Amino acid sequence: MSNFKDQLKIARAAVDQNLEKWLPIPDNLSARVVEAMRYATIGGGKAFRAFLILTTAKMFDLPEQNAINIATAMEMVHAYSLIHDDLPAMDNDTMRRGKPTTHIQFDEATAILAGDALLTNAFEVLADEATNKDGSIRAKLVKMLAHLAGKDGMVGGQMIDLIGEKQTLNLEQIEMLQDKKTGALLMFASTASAVAAKATEEQLNALKTYAKCIGLMFQITDDILDVVGDSATVGKTLGKDKTETKSTFVSVLGLDAARKKAEDLGVEAEQALSIFGDKANALREAARFILERNY
Ligand code: IPE
Ligand code: IPE
Ligand code: MG
Ligand code: MG
Ligand code: MG
Repeated sequence: MSNFKDQLKIARAAVDQNLEKWLPIPDNLSARVVEAMRYATIGGGKAFRAFLILTTAKMFDLPEQNAINIATAMEMVHAYSLIHDDLPAMDNDTMRRGKPTTHIQFDEATAILAGDALLTNAFEVLADEATNKDGSIRAKLVKMLAHLAGKDGMVGGQMIDLIGEKQTLNLEQIEMLQDKKTGALLMFASTASAVAAKATEEQLNALKTYAKCIGLMFQITDDILDVVGDSATVGKTLGKDKTETKSTFVSVLGLDAARKKAEDLGVEAEQALSIFGDKANALREAARFILERNY
């Protein structure tokens, strides 16, 4: 597992280096929004989604530079989702990645704009020629990320999440909510490199099954950490879901059954990878990391 954490750090460093290139601080009055964008992205977070993109790129021989651009766009959209998720109108959180949330460090309006710009500029990165020399592939990636981040994906899930604070959702509704709010971006992270490398339908379907499982697992363990995690290690204020009476797997199933569900999904995720043989070992480790993570 320590080797896996090193792999995450390598992904973080590769994306950070690219972010430095894409987010230079301009010498004009708009600098403040770029400072907030950098604050919310560079050096922070596990880079788990970036890792998935870089590691699947290796499986399909996609050039690393292409994958780094895809991973950078991914982490920009992810960071935007977190900035907006933390706003007072949403989860009202003051700590993220071990430091003040963007609206606390800057101000609410700047945080909203930084999120907006990270989302928008992510598509500039994805559409850049360095992402893929084939324009039709770039268009495919843009469409995929737009679909998975928008109303049918992460944003749609966040909407259901907010509704789940006011009314109790059943297990099926919670599964749909988690699948969208967290699963959708992990779906992009698990399949984008394969799409860029023109993988076969069979390979893509296997990765989609894997992604479905790890997406749910990732949010289940996030919800578990909210109850039993150590705030300093996780880097965010915990115990929030309960005070906000959120509908989660933990609130409906209880801790033990939620853990069991994550473990069952882990088995299913590993099964989906069988067609890749040893080539998918890093993805197997990624699934195990989700189950064991304490941050
Ligand atoms: C947090 O994601 C939000 C969820 C979707 C559960 P991560 O746990 O990947 O957050 P960072 O990027 O490591 O901060
Ligand atoms: C957020 O879920 C998922 C997003 C789409 C941002 P949470 O609200 O549980 O994420 P944390 O716990 O604040 O990271
Ligand atoms: Mg939330
Ligand atoms: Mg939150
Ligand atoms: Mg959470």
